[in-house]
Amino acid sequence: MDKKVADLINQQVNKEFYSAYLYLDFANYFAAKGLDGFANWYRIQAQEERDHAMLFFDYLHHNSAPVTLDTIDKPEWERGDIMDVLKAGLAHEEYVTSLINDIYDAAQQVKDFRTVQFLDWFVKEQGEEEANANDLITKMEMFGTDARGLYLLNSELKARVYVAPSLTI
Ligand code: FEO
Repeated sequence: MDKKVADLINQQVNKEFYSAYLYLDFANYFAAKGLDGFANWYRIQAQEERDHAMLFFDYLHHNSAPVTLDTIDKPEWERGDIMDVLKAGLAHEEYVTSLINDIYDAAQQVKDFRTVQFLDWFVKEQGEEEANANDLITKMEMFGTDARGLYLLNSELKARVYVAPSLTI
């Protein structure tokens, strides 16, 4: 496997674990506020991010490339109001999309079509991740400004259940 591509995927293992850590901290923030639905939503999001990390981990092993596990940074984000958290989530997903695109670009440059195919799932997934983050912001804008609307939105988010990724290595 091309060293640059392998290194970028190895870094992505860490980035995905960081994403999990960030969203767990969002869940932490909402749990402390008593918004258990928002907390549930981000807790499941954190689980999905751990899945993403393990897919990259498994992909490297599957291709006999070494994996180095590095320190996971402390989650850094502005603790403002609810909307600030949701917007930080969207900005983070846009950043992750740019990372996936960079790996895709590197794989294409060395004609590593196996990695390109593997990454196709993540390209689509990032589209969903950004759409979900945007959806939360839209719903918060529409319903979150009065107590009853916020209560209903929190109830909706409480119903989210974990679904394992459709991709297998
Ligand atoms: Fe691993 Fe939220 O993308």
